[in-house]
Parts: sequence; structure tokens; C-alpha cells
Amino acid sequence: MDHAATSHPKPEAVYEQADAALRAGGNPGRGGHRLALAAGRRIMTAREAIAGLFGLSDAGRVLFTGSATDSLNLALKGLLQPGDHVVTSSAEHNALRRPLAALTKQGVLVTRVPVRSDGSIDPAAVQAAVTPRTRLIAMAHGCNVTGALRPVADLGELARRAGALLLVDAAQTAGTHDLNMERLGIHLLAAPGHKGLLGPQGTGILCVAPVVDLRPVREGGTGSRSSQEEQPALFPEGFESGTLNTPGICGLHAGVNYLLEQGIDRIRRHEEQLTAHLLKGLRQIPGVSVYGPDSAADRSTPVAFTVAGLDPADVEEALDEEYGVAGRAGLHCNPGAHAAMGTLSVGGAMRLSPGYCTTAEEIEAVIAAVEKVASRRDG
Ligand SMILES: Cc1ncc(COP(=O)(O)O)c(C=O)c1O
Repeated sequence: MDHAATSHPKPEAVYEQADAALRAGGNPGRGGHRLALAAGRRIMTAREAIAGLFGLSDAGRVLFTGSATDSLNLALKGLLQPGDHVVTSSAEHNALRRPLAALTKQGVLVTRVPVRSDGSIDPAAVQAAVTPRTRLIAMAHGCNVTGALRPVADLGELARRAGALLLVDAAQTAGTHDLNMERLGIHLLAAPGHKGLLGPQGTGILCVAPVVDLRPVREGGTGSRSSQEEQPALFPEGFESGTLNTPGICGLHAGVNYLLEQGIDRIRRHEEQLTAHLLKGLRQIPGVSVYGPDSAADRSTPVAFTVAGLDPADVEEALDEEYGVAGRAGLHCNPGAHAAMGTLSVGGAMRLSPGYCTTAEEIEAVIAAVEKVASRRDG
């Protein structure tokens, strides 16, 4: 029940393909021998599958990174200049919030639009924050605490009208929601490989639309233009200096193939049913307060709740140790979401997040476990 942190277990093919790539050897883009060329081809087919998933016409603009955090740092630092204005929300994961805070010290201007108490955002409030200097709207699609989905299509339209770019942190929704970049007007899409895309940890992607001019933020070997001292801003290798995580990327490719075979819509419907089930069950337990949008249709899978009189960390421990339910308590790297929910002063909340492989029976067992834990709040 901690798929919001990382999906587990992975489809069998993910383990197989990571293992096979590790055994096959070869450094992609480094050398002309057969092993290196075969590794390069495996990386390219992984780029193509990911480009297809997000409706990106140029697979060379799928950049591999180490995590969503890496991707967001690259997007923000490779794009923004002093004097640029960014509109974001007051409830973003530290992976977006902290790089933006660091950039304000270099003259980037940031407006944080307050979210509603359920973590959702009013597009009109975003619109009101846009100025002629706005270069970027940057926001998570799904809030990692409340689960609230943000109106990406509206934000894309807003960015288009303002002549700005849209950066979507898709950490909680890539692999489960339709995120066609062209149709939704997304210019930069950052995601980890290890959550909804079902790949191994140590993988991430940044998909960059053809209109975006990005500067590399890390210099090093690219396997191309090697005599040149200056880092070439070539897609993709100019942004991926350092040997790629080939086994991880091959595992990620297998995860994406699994999603395509199963159908994203089908997985999304399954997760929506599980979330609705979990929400209903938790709301009926005396002493439990559930946060986030009312309807599962308006959220991704994280469900945050508190039990009156119990520290969220104690709820986490009891669920894990006594019932084998793995969830996450605390602030979830997103203090702004907890500020909006009113849970900062009680140590945050407990979060449960089902995933593609969770069953309805497991949700029943989880609800029963929370009920037992909550029943001891008065001693
Ligand atoms: C909304 C959001 N953004 C970014 C991240 C960071 O992902 P990673 O740890 O893969 O860098 C997370 C991870 O929990 C997240 O939920």
C-alpha cells in the first residue's frame, strides 16, 4: 500500500529485462563494437516506447535521468534565467519546491498559488497569477499527499495563451493517466521510472517537446563531438552525460510494455475502483478523518488520513508490524499539502496508496486493520 513511494512488486518481465541487460553488457553510445551497438539499440527502443506513451513525436527528446527529482532539476535549471517568472502551487513535492526555491536566489521569480484544502487547484487562480514575465507554469498532475488531480488541459491552454511553457511533474500519474503531451499542451514532463511506469529504482525521464530550448546542466562525455570542449546541447546525449543505467532503462522499457499490453485505461479504472473502495471504508471508521477530493475520479491513488488521538507514525508502525500493511506516515516531502489539510501540527498524516497489482480483498484487509488500530485510540 505504498505505491506512491514506489511500485512493488514489478511485472516479471521487468526483472528479466534488467537482468538480461546486465548480462549482455555494452555501454550505449560508447564504442562501435557489437555489444555497445546492441546496448544503444535497446536504449533507443526504450525511448521510442516512452515517446509513444506520452505522444512525443521525437523519441530523441526522451531524456533518461536517475529519478523524477533529477528530471525536475534539469527542466528547471536548464530552462529558467534570472528575471523569469514561474507559477506553481503551494502544495508541491520538495523535488519541485526546493529547486524553485534555490532558483529564486538567482533572480527567478516564483508565485505559489494556494491550493484548496483537498489539494486541488482553481485554474482561475493560476490564470490570475500569470504575468507578462511568466515563462513557466510548473505543477504536479497528482498531489502525492491528497491525491488531487490538477487540471492539466486547462493549464496547457493557459500556458499557450500566455506564451509560457508547462512543466508537469507526473510522478504520481505517469503510467496510469493519459498524458499525451501534444494534446494536453505539456512542454516538459518529468516522471520517475520506478512508480507507475513499473521500472526499477534509479530511473527517471524528462520528455521535452520540440519547441523547448533546454540548456544542459551537467557536463561530461556524450560519445559525440568529443573534440569539442563546450558541452553540446544535443538531444538526447548532450543532456545525459555519464554512462546510462542500461539495466534500469531496459527494466523500465519492460514496465512500459506491460502498461501498453494491459492498457493504461484499464489500470486506471482498476486503481480508481480500489481508491473508491478504500475511501468508503476509511470514512466509515470512527475517529478517522480522510483528506483529499471526495471522488476517486478526481484523484490518483494516495489516500491520506489521520486517526484522532493517534500519532500518524504510530498508525504506520502498528499497520506494518501487526498487520503487514506498508504505508507511509509523516509529511511526505510536501509540507504545503499538509498546511492546506491542517495536518502540519499533528505530524502530518498516514498515507495508503494501492497500485496496479492490489486486489479488492487486500483493500478489505487494510480497512479492517485500520479499524482495529483506530479502535484503541481511547486506550
Ligand atoms: C509528486 C512527486 N514529485 C516528485 C517525486 C520525486 O520522485 P523521485 O524520488 O523518483 O525523484 C515524488 C516522489 O515521491 C512525487 O510524489
